[in-house]
Amino acid sequence: MATLRIPEENRTVTGFDAVRAYLGGMSIDYERWEPSHAVPADAPAAEVLAAYSAEIDRLKAQGGYVTADVIDVSPATPGLEAMLNKFNSEHWHDEDEVRFIIEGRGLFHIRPSQAPVVAVTVEAGDLIRVPRGTRHWFDLCRERRIRAIRLFQDPSGWTPHYTQSGVDKNYQPVCLGPSYFPARMALS
Ligand SMILES: [Fe+2]
Repeated sequence: MATLRIPEENRTVTGFDAVRAYLGGMSIDYERWEPSHAVPADAPAAEVLAAYSAEIDRLKAQGGYVTADVIDVSPATPGLEAMLNKFNSEHWHDEDEVRFIIEGRGLFHIRPSQAPVVAVTVEAGDLIRVPRGTRHWFDLCRERRIRAIRLFQDPSGWTPHYTQSGVDKNYQPVCLGPSYFPARMALS
């Protein structure tokens, strides 16, 4: 279950309804998905996509997404840190950022124009849709593991546009949830 933190207000938001309502107020969709049949988290991508095909097809119809794939990131991923460094400073895309987490965790920081920055820790079963043009940045948690379904309207729109604001430096990449680790450990 996703957990929100609003650092400026020293406030944490938990529970599906509250998280969904808060994110919805920023036009960010949050859902919990169940597979149509049991599927191991390490099943081949095609099996994972099949198990969630009803939800994927619904979202494709709603958002104009044309492709879905599965991304795997682990400490064994070649060039992991370089890859993560592409996304951990503030940016936006011409394309929605749609992720359904199969395994592992991740941390989105989102900076809306009319509200304080919110840190969203997502984990298995969470679907998040960050609309195109929304300023955000992303970190992995301490275990450096995430497997996720991605949906695209046009994969070429996925290129980050960096704001160079430096705002991201003011926020520690601390993942919330059952496995809470202080920031320095999260970076190790
Ligand atoms: Fe992004």
